[in-house]
Amino acid sequence: MDKFIIQGGRPLEGTVRISGAKNAALPIMAAALLTSEKVQLDNIPRVRDIVTMAKLLAHMKVHVIAQDVPPSAMTIQTEEISHAEAPYELVKTMRASVLTLGPLVARFGYARVSLPGGCAIGARPIDLHIQALEKMGAKMVTEHGYVEARAERLRGAEIHFEKITVTGTENILMAATLAQGETILSNAAREPEIADLADLLIKMGAKIEGAGTSTIRVRGVEKLHGAAHRVIPDRIEVGTFLVAGAITGGNVLLTECEPRHLCAIIDKLSECGVEITAESATSLRVRASGKLRTADVTTEEYPGFATDMQAQYLALATQAEGDSLITETIFENRFMHASEMIRMGANIEINGRQAIVHGPTPLSGTTIIASDLRASASLVLAGLVAENTTVVDRVYHIDRGYERIENKLRALGARIERSG
Ligand code: EPZ
Repeated sequence: MDKFIIQGGRPLEGTVRISGAKNAALPIMAAALLTSEKVQLDNIPRVRDIVTMAKLLAHMKVHVIAQDVPPSAMTIQTEEISHAEAPYELVKTMRASVLTLGPLVARFGYARVSLPGGCAIGARPIDLHIQALEKMGAKMVTEHGYVEARAERLRGAEIHFEKITVTGTENILMAATLAQGETILSNAAREPEIADLADLLIKMGAKIEGAGTSTIRVRGVEKLHGAAHRVIPDRIEVGTFLVAGAITGGNVLLTECEPRHLCAIIDKLSECGVEITAESATSLRVRASGKLRTADVTTEEYPGFATDMQAQYLALATQAEGDSLITETIFENRFMHASEMIRMGANIEINGRQAIVHGPTPLSGTTIIASDLRASASLVLAGLVAENTTVVDRVYHIDRGYERIENKLRALGARIERSG
């Protein structure tokens, strides 16, 4: 298993190019199941989860054509499928496999998808996806660890999500494009990744209004056609590099990003004394020269402060002057990184869904274990400011969602190596 070996203590300086958004590319790849024509995708991040999604589609005998592995562009064509199934072996490595449920039942009238089960950050059920498809007329059966959906043709329905769910909104949005009649999704997630998925679906001929707001209206059509699409930049990768620049007292230019997707994160980092300026419509500069100040954070659905940035922010808080209260409202168990940071010398108290970080504390290098994707990123950030050598084990988690983060950090002057 690969590890990162980090010698901390260097301010990061230089330019980093931001990759496409994993959490936009995954539903977008699943959307290619909705048409028999070619869907051409660009700005795909070269990360492990994308390879897993491509494997899942290939398992159904969908044609996935890419120049390289991992690919940065691909063409997907779903003339037919051999079987409408997402097996446990793939779903257990990537929960986003569940995004095939909606498109498969909408186009082929049948889907069988393994239940994802819990993971390192919480229980993560898919009951809201199931209830919504049921409301659209699908017969849903859950047995032997799989959910099966059947419907000759889905019907439009009024779907109110009891809780805001990102992949739930995406699944039902995709399903609704081919349903008979109108579907109204209320209390829908508003993440930019949903608007990006809707942009592609509209290019494919779907009739969608309101994506990116909490009410989405979809008028179902008989058929969708092919389209070409460029995936939006990864706002969480941007946030991670903003923290990397800030925590090391560096000066980094981030290019090919979409600053308007980062308002909550930029506001919070600015409160901490980090200087962030837009150098153009698609680039941000982060500088931190003085002392970092604390600011409390509560994670929220978009446009609030993203749960996917909580771990990285916690790393920053260990270096800020004073006490930071960090409240995690989205997932019940998303502080695994804190115990590893405590082993490095951080002063953090965890109480249920809240963490109090007493800073600043010097961190000292040791061997630490990554428990999930964003936790791994936060441990790398901690390693960048720690004294001596930090070894981050199980970096396969980070490879799921960051494109060769060690190369990008090294180009900014960090001393980080991968070892097999
Ligand atoms: C998406 O996960 C992201 N994944 C996650 O990113 C992200 O952390 C999360 O949204 C929240 O922003 C992808 O986009 C592929 P949810 P998702 O459904 O859709 C509960 C990363 O690091 N819930 O919005 O699975 C659920 O348990 C990952 O890139 C139900 O109760 O998250 C959670 O408490 C990790 N029933 C809350 O809702 C349901 O049917 C929000 O989850 C669905 C969700």
